[in-house]
Amino acid sequence: MMLGTWSFSARGCERAWPQLVVGGESLDAVCAAAREAEVDPTVNSVGFGGLPDANGQVSLDACVMVAPNRCGAVCAVTRHLCVTDLARLVMETTPHVMLAGEGADVFADSLGMAASVLLSADAKSAWLKWRSGDVSGGTTDHGIDRGAAIGVASAASAIGERMVAHDTIGVLAIDTRGVMAGACSTSGLPYKRSGRVGDSPIPGHGLYVDPEVGGAVATGNGELIMGVSGSFLAVECIRRGATPAQAVHEVLERIERHFHPGPEQQIGVIALARDGTWSAGALRTGFAVSVADGAGIRAVAPEFVLHGAPHDEGRST
Ligand code: GLY
Repeated sequence: MMLGTWSFSARGCERAWPQLVVGGESLDAVCAAAREAEVDPTVNSVGFGGLPDANGQVSLDACVMVAPNRCGAVCAVTRHLCVTDLARLVMETTPHVMLAGEGADVFADSLGMAASVLLSADAKSAWLKWRSGDVSGGTTDHGIDRGAAIGVASAASAIGERMVAHDTIGVLAIDTRGVMAGACSTSGLPYKRSGRVGDSPIPGHGLYVDPEVGGAVATGNGELIMGVSGSFLAVECIRRGATPAQAVHEVLERIERHFHPGPEQQIGVIALARDGTWSAGALRTGFAVSVADGAGIRAVAPEFVLHGAPHDEGRST
């Protein structure tokens, strides 16, 4: 099975699923799913098309994880697009876990990875509007019906998906051998201060996988997720006997308790136990989860919303 944050990750699931069901590796599946979002210019929070920092510079972060002793990450990459693949190469070909900034780009050069321009025309125009003070250009409301591109538009709109910012792609997969892997990729907070790095590339924050227990991904304001080590916390709750739903609830409640997040701040968390049971929740309405399993590929509402109206509760599958 595969699970991903937001409806746009369904497109990545569609790309990866045919290989996964015939015995492909979960690590290949999550990398393929993240890559799909990285090259998609309509996803303005990941890869090409991602909104830049305050200086107009796009910088990308990514992480892959299979186990505590098998993870890799890159952050603040400014010249290469497929940062999830680069994170995997850090894991597979170096003794390190994370490479940052120019060092990560130089590592990509040394592997023969082609350099890319990361700032799309649309992202540049949104940044110019933001810089001129015209926030109607979409600083906090990405406003793109990404579902339309992947054939799940009606499902995404029926479940009330509303992406507000920092819509990281986080993907978890279990392959036919029972091996779990996760990947996480983002361009980070739109118009962030130059040098800012969030939760996504840091094992335990945007992504955590422990094959003895399960995995978790988080999306939303990285500062809040980092404050509670969100993904690690979810997996540790499951290790201590919580269900995935209880684990996600604990993460969101802890964020609520420490940060008192405002209405513009959203967090979505997905937890997947090693037996395949899973849950997702969000601070407020608007989050969606892409699911790929024997029943097909679809976007669904999270199981619960901390600040949701009663009709927002309950997964549609
Ligand atoms: N969750 C992505 C970020 O805040 O950078």
